[in-house]
This record gives sequence, structure tokens and C-alpha cells, in this order.
Amino acid sequence: MSKRKPVSRSGRFATGPGDDVVRYTESISFDRRLWWHDIQGSIAHATMLQSIGVLNKKELGAIKRGLKQIAGEIEDGTFPWKEELEDVHMNIEGELTRRIPAGAKLHTSRSRNDQIALDSRMWLRDEIVDLIGELRVLQLALVELGAKYSRERIPGYTHLQRGQPVFFAHHLLAYVEMLERDIGRLQDCFERTNVCPLGSGALAGTTLPIDREMTATLLGFVDEKGRARISQNSMDAVSDRDYMVEFCSTAGLLAVHFSRLAEDLILWSSSEFAFIRIGDAYTTGSSLMPQKKNPDIAELARGKAGRVVGNLMSLLTLLKGLPMTYNRDLQEDKERLFDTADTVRRTTRLVAAMLPTIEVLSDSCADAVSDPLLLATDVADYLVCKGMPFREAHHVVGAVVALAEKIEKELHELSLGDFRTTSGLFDQDVFDVFDLKKASASRNITGAPGDREVKRQLNRWRKALGKFVSG
Ligand code: ARG
Repeated sequence: MSKRKPVSRSGRFATGPGDDVVRYTESISFDRRLWWHDIQGSIAHATMLQSIGVLNKKELGAIKRGLKQIAGEIEDGTFPWKEELEDVHMNIEGELTRRIPAGAKLHTSRSRNDQIALDSRMWLRDEIVDLIGELRVLQLALVELGAKYSRERIPGYTHLQRGQPVFFAHHLLAYVEMLERDIGRLQDCFERTNVCPLGSGALAGTTLPIDREMTATLLGFVDEKGRARISQNSMDAVSDRDYMVEFCSTAGLLAVHFSRLAEDLILWSSSEFAFIRIGDAYTTGSSLMPQKKNPDIAELARGKAGRVVGNLMSLLTLLKGLPMTYNRDLQEDKERLFDTADTVRRTTRLVAAMLPTIEVLSDSCADAVSDPLLLATDVADYLVCKGMPFREAHHVVGAVVALAEKIEKELHELSLGDFRTTSGLFDQDVFDVFDLKKASASRNITGAPGDREVKRQLNRWRKALGKFVSG
């Protein structure tokens, strides 16, 4: 049986909710992290209320001082959070009003419905900016690792079968490109998050002549020309969580990119590949097998994609079929949003810290990339240069590979006579094709893994990222 709390919520209720109800409905345990944004929102709202005469100067001064005092206590950990006050908004406003009578005027023309939309948008804007900064650091870590080992080649794979030789740096730069698109999506998401819902009230605005542009401007909801960006439909504004879905979806794809990078690192650090060694600090041992060095950080970066994608599914499912406008279901959005941001930001930082500890194992890379079959496509291109249509060249080289297999020789160990059994276009110069240096030198179109092109890309990224990352 639940005990009745003696807290009266408003004039409408005779008794307060029971303990179990309080525990079930509270959000203060997780939404208190919005406190700073909640206070900034209240200061801006109060400033606007004073400008239209709802508060006088003295009252505004007292409210601001009271809110700043509360901010200080929250920071020190001395603020008396109360579960029975449900959420961050009521805790702060309730305590303010207990201390300052004018606090009772603060909620004029405001509802927790537009307040939570405001706080979460402000919080998310900051998260996006910080995440983008951290992603820049990660991009630079990938570029620097590529630059450090710029001469190392590895096989590039399709179907996890050896395909063609690439520079190790080229492989890493693929992830730099992916992250660049993720950053672009985050910037788009920022634009739609950066719209001020305050003034929408519970769902139908207010009868009072509030100045929505002023509050929006005070809180930085402005376009590049400094014009206020405010929501245009009060019902939409209090029920819209698209900005959260966009963020969680962008974060989901980002987490998928992390998981793919992690998988490459895990494969490369296995004895089967042995292309890299990950620093001790980012690996763990086995409690049973003394020889083990496991890439747990990379494995968790791969695994955490599951929860980030799961958060997106939770949010979408939460929103599906919700009638207009605000429904309490929406309180469930925050933990998914917070967990998503926390998970991708922690993963970004850890992967960025792990990358510089990676050592490339030159001998096994060189060994893997010396497989002459990796240059079979180059042999076909050789025939194309001699005038053969590519489809035919592909067929001829297939026959050469089959012959090599049959007589148990490597491709470059065949004699010119062997080559010529498949096509008269083969000449002595076919053996030059098996020179890896030449193979790299002849792949310098934009986006290809040629030596000049990879160097150009490394330089381009270093320059571009230098603008964002200092030190
Ligand atoms: N804690 C609530 C949430 O997170 C704030 C809005 C509550 N509004 C209401 N009418 N109960 O969604």
C-alpha cells in the first residue's frame, strides 16, 4: 500500500500522490541535468516579463539573484532536490518561490510543456557543438595515424577477400570522410533544434502580450543575421520531438560508423591479420588464458552501436500514434536522448585516445600486400592499354590466374611464354605490373589510393582540421 504524501499539488487536488506514484512519475532523477538550461530559460523569461510590465525591476532583480543562488547550490551539490516535486522545472521554481515571493509570477505565460521543449533544445544545441568538436579531434587522430604510417600498404578487401593494394592511410581516410558526413548531419540537426518554443504555453500560447522574439534572442535562438527563430505553431511546438529523433538517428549512423572502424581494428589486431598492435591501455587480458590481449575498447565501441540504434527505435516507438499535443509519455524521451549523447561522445573520445597508441606491424602488412594476385586487375588494365576490351582482358587474366594455380606458381613467377598462352598481347613489360611502387604511382586520380593522391588527401585534411583543432 502506498502512503499518501501530504504535498498538495494545487487547488484542484484534495490529497497528494502516494509514494509509489511519486517514484513512478518523477523525472528529477534524470532531468536534473537540465538545470543550467532551465535556469537560463527562466532568467530570459523573467527579463521578458519585466519588459512587458508583468514584473517590476525589483522583482526581476530578486528572481535573478534567487536563480543564481540556486545555480550556485546545485553546482556545490547543496541544493535540496525533492523527488515529490517531480522534475527539474518544479524543483527550481518551487525552491525559488519559497525564498522569493515574486517567484510565484515566474510561470506567467509559461507551461512545463514549452519549458521542457525549451530546455531540451538548449541542452541538445550544446551537446551537438561539443560532439562536433570531439569528432574533429577524432578525425585528426585518424589523419595523424595515417600520416605516421604513410608508407605502409595493406590489401584492400571486398567480401573480406583480398582485393587490391591500398595505403593504410587511404583506409583510415575512408573513416574521416564518413565522420565528415556525420558532422554535416549534426549541423543540419542543429539548425532545426535551434528554434525557440517558449511562449507556446501548455498548447495554445497565452492571452498576455509576451515578446517571444526577445526571449528567443536572449537565449541565442537566432539565425546568422541575428534574427529570432521562434516556433510558428504552439501545438506543434509542445509536442514536437523531431529534433531529438534527428539527433538520435544521426548518432545511430555515427555509432554504426564507429562499429565498422572498431571491427577493422579488431580484425587487424588478430593474429590472423596482425597488421596492428593496440596499446596496452586500450586492451585487457583474460582471467584464464595468460597470453591473451583483447581489444575490449574497440569491441565495446562496436557493441555500443546496438544501444544507440535501440534508443532511436525507442524514441520513434514512443512518438508513434501520440495524439496532439503534449502527453506524459514524452517524459520517456529524455533518458534515450541523454544516453545517446553520452554514449557517442564517450566513444568518440575513447577511440580518439586509442588511435595514437596503435602500432602498425610493417612486416606482416608488407607480407600480405606482396600477394601478386592483388595486382590481377592491373594486369587486365595493362591489356586494355594494349588495345584489348576490358571484358576480354578480364577473361584473359582469369585464365592466367587459373594457369598459375594449376602449375602451382605465383602470378609473377610465370614465364612470358605462360602468359602468352592466353594472349599474344603480353610482352616482357607485363612483369613491371608487379612492382607495387609502380602500381601506387599509377593510381593518382582523385579519390584513388596512389601515393601522390593519398599524400594530397592527408595534407588537405590536416589543413582543414587544423582550423578546428588546436594544439
Ligand atoms: N517532466 C515533464 C517531461 O519531462 C515536463 C513536462 C510536464 N508537463 C506536464 N503537463 N506534466 O515531459
